Amino acid sequence: MRIKELEIKNFRNYTYAKVNLNERLNVLVGNNAQGKTNLLESIFLLALGKSPRVNKDKDLVMWEKENSIIKLVLEKKAGTTNIEIRLFKAGKKVILINGIPIKKISELLGILNVIYFFPDDLKLIKESPSERRKFMDMDICQASKQYFYLLTRYERILNQRNKLIKTSKDINILKDAISIWDEQLADTASKIILSRIKFINKLAPKVKNCHHYLTGNDENLQLSYVGITGETSLEIKNKLLESYNQTLEKDFDLGYTTIGPHRDDLKITLNNIDLRTFGSQGQQRTASLSLKLAEIETFKYETDETPILLLDDVLSELDNTRQNKLLEIASKLQTVLTCTDFPFDIKCKKFNIQNGKII
Ligand SMILES: Nc1ncnc2c1ncn2[C@@H]1O[C@H](COP(=O)(O)OP(=O)(O)OP(=O)(O)O)[C@@H](O)[C@H]1O
Ligand SMILES: [Mg+2]
Repeated sequence: MRIKELEIKNFRNYTYAKVNLNERLNVLVGNNAQGKTNLLESIFLLALGKSPRVNKDKDLVMWEKENSIIKLVLEKKAGTTNIEIRLFKAGKKVILINGIPIKKISELLGILNVIYFFPDDLKLIKESPSERRKFMDMDICQASKQYFYLLTRYERILNQRNKLIKTSKDINILKDAISIWDEQLADTASKIILSRIKFINKLAPKVKNCHHYLTGNDENLQLSYVGITGETSLEIKNKLLESYNQTLEKDFDLGYTTIGPHRDDLKITLNNIDLRTFGSQGQQRTASLSLKLAEIETFKYETDETPILLLDDVLSELDNTRQNKLLEIASKLQTVLTCTDFPFDIKCKKFNIQNGKII
């Protein structure tokens, strides 16, 4: 897929901007705080309906303005699609696909596929499991609406179960009352877990290859799912039901559900050593990049389209060899890359970003 044209109005520090993107490498060059990341953020927003940086849509609307419009023209094998998002400081956003407003955000997912790499992505390796769950979930959602529904359903049932645990005074009464929630929760949870395991199994060999390509050495980067696992959703469901029973006392004491996909993790090891705890900064950075680049292949496989790569300020943190290898990959698909300086002799379309203007 390819973004032909991007147009934004009153978005962050842009009063108005329109760009025609090249089908390969696009480079946004500019000093700090000029609006480079803001532009990438607008593309991300059009793909997933939310910002990777902030939770409140109103923060995206230009200060002292009431609303904002962001739109793009996307070309895919099946034809052209227009995506438009209207943000309001005082109300809910409106998303239009080919001019028609959609009812649910899930209708947007999967139309524009992006793989983004922000400097913050080191969090993926370094921080709590929730970052890695987000990584898995966002990716699977982009390829499967069904998965998005499962997540929403899971959250709803989990909240109900937690509410019941919190309000129960007696564990024996709780034991009887909780079984209806357990059945529903285990059913949804098992499907989520199985999707994640399948996703990891597909991604793992590709991550290993990308890591090898970037570093040129034989370090063995491996991924595994941490949680209750199994070969089928029925097997996982039964294991979960058994575990809910075993942990009920603990859950009752703590006041929430302590097992399930909302607590699971993705373990990343390098030569069998846990990267999160023992990896060097450089190893962690390269591993997170390998994870993201491997997604290109899985997307191609899942959707028969090449996703769009968004690279925010990534080059400055890599050594020379890794910079060149990354640019080689970035030149093979539509990429939008930001940097403060681009001294590379490589074919690309350059845009200078100055104070919310594209020059
Ligand atoms: N809602 C908003 N309205 C107006 N300006 C905003 C809004 N949100 C952020 N900004 C401004 O946008 C500017 C540019 O931000 P951006 O993150 O895109 O910079 P950048 O070019 O990526 O810089 P760096 O190289 O430091 O990453 C910041 O100075 C910020 O104050
Ligand atoms: Mg930036």
